[in-house]
Amino acid sequence: MDKSRIAFNRPCVTGKEIEYIKDVIAKGKFSGDNDYTKKCNSWIENKLGCRKVLLTTSGTHALDMMAILIGIKPGDEVIMPSFTFSSTANAFVLRGAKIVFVDVNPDTMNIDEAIVEKAVTEKTKAIVAVHYAGVPCEMDTILSIGEKHHLYVFEDAAQAILSKHKGRFAGTLGNMAALSFHETKNIQCGEGGALLINDPDFIERAEIIREKGTDRSRFFRGEINKYGWVDFGSSYLPGELSAAFLFAQLEIAEEIITDRLESWKAYYMGLNSLQVEGLIQLAKIPEYMSHNGHLFYIKTRDLSERTSLQKYLNENNINCVFHYIPLHSSRAGKKYGRFYGDDSFTTSDSERLLRLPMWYGLKSDQIAHVCEMIKKFYNK
Ligand SMILES: Cc1ncc(COP(=O)(O)O)c(C=O)c1O
Repeated sequence: MDKSRIAFNRPCVTGKEIEYIKDVIAKGKFSGDNDYTKKCNSWIENKLGCRKVLLTTSGTHALDMMAILIGIKPGDEVIMPSFTFSSTANAFVLRGAKIVFVDVNPDTMNIDEAIVEKAVTEKTKAIVAVHYAGVPCEMDTILSIGEKHHLYVFEDAAQAILSKHKGRFAGTLGNMAALSFHETKNIQCGEGGALLINDPDFIERAEIIREKGTDRSRFFRGEINKYGWVDFGSSYLPGELSAAFLFAQLEIAEEIITDRLESWKAYYMGLNSLQVEGLIQLAKIPEYMSHNGHLFYIKTRDLSERTSLQKYLNENNINCVFHYIPLHSSRAGKKYGRFYGDDSFTTSDSERLLRLPMWYGLKSDQIAHVCEMIKKFYNK
C-alpha cells in the first residue's frame, strides 16, 4: 500500500474536464447560460425528474434564492437543524428571519421530524430539511407538517446528489432544493450549485432573480424582443468554464457514487465489530433511504476520546476531521436564532463525530489501513 498520507478529501477529477473546457474556449462563449450550463441543467432535470433546474454559483446562492423567492421578511421564522452549515441559516437571516433550531435524530444527524411540528408558531414560514451526509431526512412527516400549516418545505441537498427517499431523488420532494458542487462534494466544480424548483410558481421569478433582476432569460429564448430590469436580483449564474468542468463529472455521476458507496460499505464492515462492542457508533440508515456515500463518520464515546483518536490518526498519516459546531451555540446563531426544545443530541453527538477519509478512487487497502489503525487505538 502507498504509505503516504491518506487525505480526508481528494476532489474528483474525471479526465474529461479539459476537453470540455477547450470546447468552451473554441466556441468563445464564456458567460452563463450557454451550452454547458444548459447541458448541466437538463442532465439534472432528466436524471432527478425535477421540474426546473438552474445552475448557480454555489449551494449557498441557491439557498439565498429560495429565501428571496418566498419573500422572507423580518419577523418570519424558519425551522432547521442546528447541526448544519452556516449557509442554511444565512439565506434566511439575510432577509431578516429568525432561525428556530431543533434537535437532530442521532441515527442520521438529520432534523428530528418528530419535533418539527412543536416548533411551528404563527410566524413560521418554512422548514429546511438538511440531508446530512447524503442521507435523506424523513420527508413524509416533514411534508405533511408543511401542508398542514401552509409552510414551505425546502431541501438543503448540498450533500445529497442522487440520494433517494423511498425511490424518489433527494431534491425533488420539497418546494425547492439546493445542490452544492463545492470541491468537497461528490460531484464538484470548485464552487458551484443548483437551485431545483419543484413548484412551477417559482420558475419565472427565479430566472429573473438569478439574472440581476432582468428578464434576460426570456429574451435569450426569443420570447421577448428586449430585456430590462423588472425585479430585484443578483448574479447567481456561473460561467461556462465551471459548467463545462461540472458536466464532465455529471456524465459519470453514477460511477462516482457507486465507488464511494463501496468505500462506505467497506468502512462499515471494517468497523462494525467496534460498534458491536459498544466502543463506537456508526450511522443507522433507514432502509427506505438510499444514500450517496458522501461521508463516512464514526462517533466516539465522548469528546476527549474523539480528540485523542483524531490526534492518533493524524500522527499516523490519516487525515480525519470533525464537522459542524452546532449553529445555535455559535456567536451568530445566538444572535439570529433560538433553540426549540431540548438539545439532547445536537451538541453531544456533534462532539463525538469524526469523519474518515472519503473520496472517489479511495483504495480498499487504504480503507483497511484506516480501520486497522482505529482498531489499534481501541487495542483491538
Ligand atoms: C449542508 C450544506 N448546506 C449548504 C452548503 C453550501 O454550499 P456551497 O459551499 O456550494 O455554497 C454546504 C456546503 O458546504 C453544506 O454542506
